[in-house]
Amino acid sequence: MSEIGSFMKRTAHCGQLRAGDVGQEVILNGWVNRRRDHGGLIFIDMRDRSGIVQIVFDPPTSEEAHAIATEVRPEFVMAVHGTVQRRPQGTENPDLPTGDVEVIAGEAEVLNPAETPPFSFVDETETDELVRLKYRYIDLRSPRMQRNLRLRHQAAQATRGFLTQEGFWEVETPILFKPTPEGARDYLVPSRVSPGNFYALPQSPQILKQLLMVSGVEKYFQLARCLRDEDLRADRQPEHTQIDIEMSFVEQDDIFRLTERLFAHIFKETINVDLPIPFPRMTYAEAMRRYGTDKPDIRFAMELTDLTDIAEGCEFEIFRRTVAQGGQVKGIKAEGCGDYSRSQIDQLTEFAKVHKAQGLVSMAVTESEIKSPMAKFFTEEELGQIADRYQAKAGDLVLMVADKPEIVAESLDWLRREMGHRLGLIDENEFAPLWVTEFPLFAWDEGEKRWDAEHHPFCMPHPDDFELFQTDPGEVRAQAYDVVLNGVELGSGSIRIHRRDIQQQVFDVLGIDPEEAERRFGFLLRAFEYGTPPHGGIAPGFDRLVMMLCGENNIREVMAFPKTQRAQDLMSGAPSPADPDALRELHIKLDLPPSE
Ligand code: AMO
Repeated sequence: MSEIGSFMKRTAHCGQLRAGDVGQEVILNGWVNRRRDHGGLIFIDMRDRSGIVQIVFDPPTSEEAHAIATEVRPEFVMAVHGTVQRRPQGTENPDLPTGDVEVIAGEAEVLNPAETPPFSFVDETETDELVRLKYRYIDLRSPRMQRNLRLRHQAAQATRGFLTQEGFWEVETPILFKPTPEGARDYLVPSRVSPGNFYALPQSPQILKQLLMVSGVEKYFQLARCLRDEDLRADRQPEHTQIDIEMSFVEQDDIFRLTERLFAHIFKETINVDLPIPFPRMTYAEAMRRYGTDKPDIRFAMELTDLTDIAEGCEFEIFRRTVAQGGQVKGIKAEGCGDYSRSQIDQLTEFAKVHKAQGLVSMAVTESEIKSPMAKFFTEEELGQIADRYQAKAGDLVLMVADKPEIVAESLDWLRREMGHRLGLIDENEFAPLWVTEFPLFAWDEGEKRWDAEHHPFCMPHPDDFELFQTDPGEVRAQAYDVVLNGVELGSGSIRIHRRDIQQQVFDVLGIDPEEAERRFGFLLRAFEYGTPPHGGIAPGFDRLVMMLCGENNIREVMAFPKTQRAQDLMSGAPSPADPDALRELHIKLDLPPSE
């Protein structure tokens, strides 16, 4: 073991040695990736951040180094002093960038031993994610996680570089602040010096970035940490990072152009992909109509076809009744699936039911007829009309859902994506960005029986829709947009309200009276009275963007220390009980539910 404070410091990096280095004397520092003892010779694959190189311990070269190599185990940290040599002919490893060479060890030093690791990433076996998260510091040593961390860093650098070039200033905004209405629950932080008062951690810097526009910053960005207490999913974490952007004196097109160029720059700099710009655009209404979702994956077609008009007068009672009650009948066509068995159809029906549909009506088109478990409920003519609407040919399968419009949309969106995957219609190497525009300003909250902001309450209404505020708030469009990539919502933004009167009109529909508006957002409304430029912005989710760059399906794979579905950090045990003294100082008494 080395003396504390002094060790053989490296002169080279493991992964960088090549045939051109043969004959060089090097000191390497790193971890034992793998050790093979061939009786006389010991081989150690030594790893540092740059990669792996093979070290040979041969007793005639150094008895001492060989003796040390006998003792080391995977994940020991070592220093090795040796000479780079060409590997004997026939023993080269073409899978390794350093595979032409090896280092023959003259001296070795264990810098720190390691317990037997709880898992090994070296053999690329699947490890339970809970174990990976508990020992995240080991997990992050794996080539996959190192690549993800590196790409994340490169994406951050590319973002900063590009936006700086474009004249943006990076401004940090506080973490201890007031609630921001982004639709999630707030994380609260008690104030010791103002007992009974709480800060809210920012769900986003939304209000602050608008205030920076009032302050004349004109072009702001921040790689901003956002904290939201919400139900977690594969692409959601309680803490996430946004590329938060706001600009003054702009219109929607200016923000679109900037975002497109930013994305193109990031993709080029990190994974050398040329993202086609400008991105296509689609209104929210069109996206819902054609795909049943506001974030369509446009890498494949299989669009939703509306049959409501045919269903309205047809013989089939369920279709007719659904339409009479204001519902819809829509469906998709799965080409070449006409020979699906009964059990395959049953399985798809179950899938649709999981996604809220009451059932699924299938029709298979053959050369001679249209087969369907429901065929007897339709006339020949109706079956023909449906097949024609889909332009279905022999061998095709039509899958239909009759329900409330939102359920038709949701279940068919799921079914479309499922069938897209099953049929291999999605090119995994393609990136298909899309702008979704003209989001509704308000969304009806059925549980609370009131209007809510679809995005947040600071989005500027569409200029043509002000009259609908009184008559039909659900139809008011906002100058709000999402940028979508391969079916993932990557970012949201809007042109903002910069006038107090319009802001109050929106608050009125949301049921926020002037008193409440004053209490929650008075500081913003006041600012609007001191010379506010027209402004707008966007916030791409940085973690989701990095997921795309890394080709990962789970956001946890691109974060150094993510939390579990239950918002826990398995490594540190957070969240954990607070020290009673700390609670006393904060004047907080706990009133816990009975333990589970
Ligand atoms: P929004 O709430 O849509 O908008 O968030 C913007 C983007 O941030 C990402 N995102 C998340 N990523 C991981 N985990 C989460 N829990 C999470 N929540 C959101 C998504 C999303 O598109 N202030 C506005 C933006 C604006 O109007 O400028 C906002 O926060 O990719």
